[in-house]
Amino acid sequence: MDNFEYLNGRLCAEEVPVTRIAEEYGTPTYIYSRDALERAYLDYAQALEGRDALVCYAVKANSNIGVLNVLARLGAGFDIVSVGELERVIKAGGDPAKVVFSGVAKREGEMRRALEAGIHCFNIESEAELDRLNKVAAELDKVAAISLRVNPDVDAGTHPYISTGLKDNKFGVAIEDAARIYAYANSLSHLDVQGVDCHIGSQLTEIAPFLDALDRLLVLIDTLASEGITIKHLDLGGGLGVCYTDEVPPTPQEYIAAVIERLGDRPLKLIFEPGRSIAANAGIMITKVEFLKCTEHKNFAIIDGAMNDLIRPALYSAYMEIIPVEVREGESRSFDLVGPVCESGDFLGKDRQLNLEAGDLLAVCSAGAYGFGMSSNYNTRNRAAEVMVDDNQIHLIRKRETVVDQLRGESVLPG
Ligand code: LLP
Repeated sequence: MDNFEYLNGRLCAEEVPVTRIAEEYGTPTYIYSRDALERAYLDYAQALEGRDALVCYAVKANSNIGVLNVLARLGAGFDIVSVGELERVIKAGGDPAKVVFSGVAKREGEMRRALEAGIHCFNIESEAELDRLNKVAAELDKVAAISLRVNPDVDAGTHPYISTGLKDNKFGVAIEDAARIYAYANSLSHLDVQGVDCHIGSQLTEIAPFLDALDRLLVLIDTLASEGITIKHLDLGGGLGVCYTDEVPPTPQEYIAAVIERLGDRPLKLIFEPGRSIAANAGIMITKVEFLKCTEHKNFAIIDGAMNDLIRPALYSAYMEIIPVEVREGESRSFDLVGPVCESGDFLGKDRQLNLEAGDLLAVCSAGAYGFGMSSNYNTRNRAAEVMVDDNQIHLIRKRETVVDQLRGESVLPG
């Protein structure tokens, strides 16, 4: 979290004291650092310099158009999973020709829009989806570039909810069936077989599972070549982990160097779809302590940020570091940090050693990925504001939602 550091006991986002952002924009608010986003993207881009490659940022990790725009300006590609994400990329100034479209159930309308926009490739996840895309492309008199998402059946060793490369989950086609399905795809008149892709899971902290998957895909690519199907690109998905507490994941440089070594002299274009490793440590969420509720058994700090704002702790038992915005001298106590939502699962952290008083501000660290994007209106709570800091400038990139915003589109029965 290099871009979020203390200066004289006060947490700053780049050069801006976080208290100033809280005063101007209220809480809870997500704060992103432009510099952190850029550096994280460039770690990938620079490791791939001199190679035919595309870094397609996974939009789902943080889809604010302000974030997408910062990456688009650096020449990033994008990995999308819905037409909504495609519209965001276009609005943010991203190049559709650098977009790959993942997801198990793309609708016809989504395929149509993506074909019209001229995306780079559809990552196809089943035979039925091949047929659907072939039909839509034929209707538009276009040829769709495709890659098959292959499920290499490797254990990513991560949380079951974010592990996607094992055979018993819904993603991709089984590697044993891949050659047959490629032959079928190759026979369809409006499809152009371009690539192979996989995504084995998220928050991986070791290189080995990626390389196991890669080895299996390379065997497949060589088999396909012997059958006359030339694969031009290899998309290894996202998944590289980040440090939330004490994890030491490989750097993009280490990961990419290992991949390139394994490729040998195969002239494959490389595509990566990193989400978390670009956005997570480029963001924090700030929240205010409303009340302290101390009982014989427990101390609760009731904060104004809740599970609807940041669901990772409730959904995955994810540990997110929580730190004071202004360091207070004196003794710490153990607190559970709980929100105002009517659920026992509404906590952002448990058993945290802090010295707190009502009115204090806290920062939830590493919240730039899968934070705001997974937020909801549960309990009719307005979604948080989002700001991007750039040196000493603060830019509001999403206004705090209002109840009027929330009720727009709802209606009561007539008469
Ligand atoms: N490509 C595909 C096809 C994906 O499904 C994903 C993430 C990515 C790329 C980006 O993966 P990343 O580099 O961010 O690991 N909400 C969960 C994470 C879900 C990831 C889903 N797929 C969390 O908060 O931990």
